[in-house]
Amino acid sequence: MPEPVLPDPSTIAITDHGPVRLVAVNRPDKLNALNAATLDALLAAFDAAAADDGVRVVVLTGTGPKAFVAGADIAEMSGLTPVQGRDFSLRGQRLMRRIETLPKPVVAMVNGFALGGGLELAMSCHLRIAADSAKVGQPEVNLGLIPGFGGSQRLLRLAGRAATLELCLTGAPIDAPRALQLGIVNRVVPAAELEAETMQLAAKLAAAAPLALRGVLDCVNVGGECAIGEGLEYESAQFGLMFATDDMREGTAAFLERRKPDFKGR
Ligand code: COA
Repeated sequence: MPEPVLPDPSTIAITDHGPVRLVAVNRPDKLNALNAATLDALLAAFDAAAADDGVRVVVLTGTGPKAFVAGADIAEMSGLTPVQGRDFSLRGQRLMRRIETLPKPVVAMVNGFALGGGLELAMSCHLRIAADSAKVGQPEVNLGLIPGFGGSQRLLRLAGRAATLELCLTGAPIDAPRALQLGIVNRVVPAAELEAETMQLAAKLAAAAPLALRGVLDCVNVGGECAIGEGLEYESAQFGLMFATDDMREGTAAFLERRKPDFKGR
């Protein structure tokens, strides 16, 4: 059996705030650029968050005042061979898919630049809250590259063809209000309020019924990739499954008894 990859503290920082786990990419000197070690540390961190029942929500951010993540590490990429380039792309895509399919909500707290791999990382999260000072973009063409961590595909699904072609063909960053207008982020808040607003949302999600949240995430992930008939069938099966949970009994009873529900994730 291979040894598990342990998160490298020089690449990410993890802190728990009750049931909310805050994961921060921790290379502020390099504007949190994603090198291979950081991708591996993030993958291990999300595996650990998925396996830990005490974690109900993950918030992902970047350390420092300037950047969420300013992209894949250009210095590391510059010398890659085509085969290594493909492997680097697959490494990134594997992380993004792990986040997207995590069975608990992941909120991106976009505190600054989210460029290239940074926007791809944010788009793999389920919700995105951006500071009004944030800038997002897919600038790979400026380097003679294209998005390699799923950007061309996730942006297309999230915001459509026009926005994807605008961002990926021009490589020009857009500001947070425009990202909101295009549906790339869910909310924009003043930079000074970003952390409080995000943690408030995360706390709300953490108090919700975990299996119901998981059901929603599964339906959206599966339904986004299949014909509507199959998606609806999947939704009905998930809906039925909820009736097997203690939390569904608790949620409906609490409503009828006019009290707050206490969800246990069972
Ligand atoms: N990969 C590797 N290093 C990066 C990086 C990246 N994607 N983005 C920033 N850095 C590094 C810089 O090289 C610099 O390192 P140094 O101090 O050792 O020279 C440090 O982070 C600070 O960046 P700097 O460019 O000096 O900051 P700035 O405020 O002048 O500019 C940006 C900020 C985001 C506009 C600029 O850093 C940038 O364009 N980054 C690349 C964005 C990109 O193309 N991402 C997609 C990659 S596929």
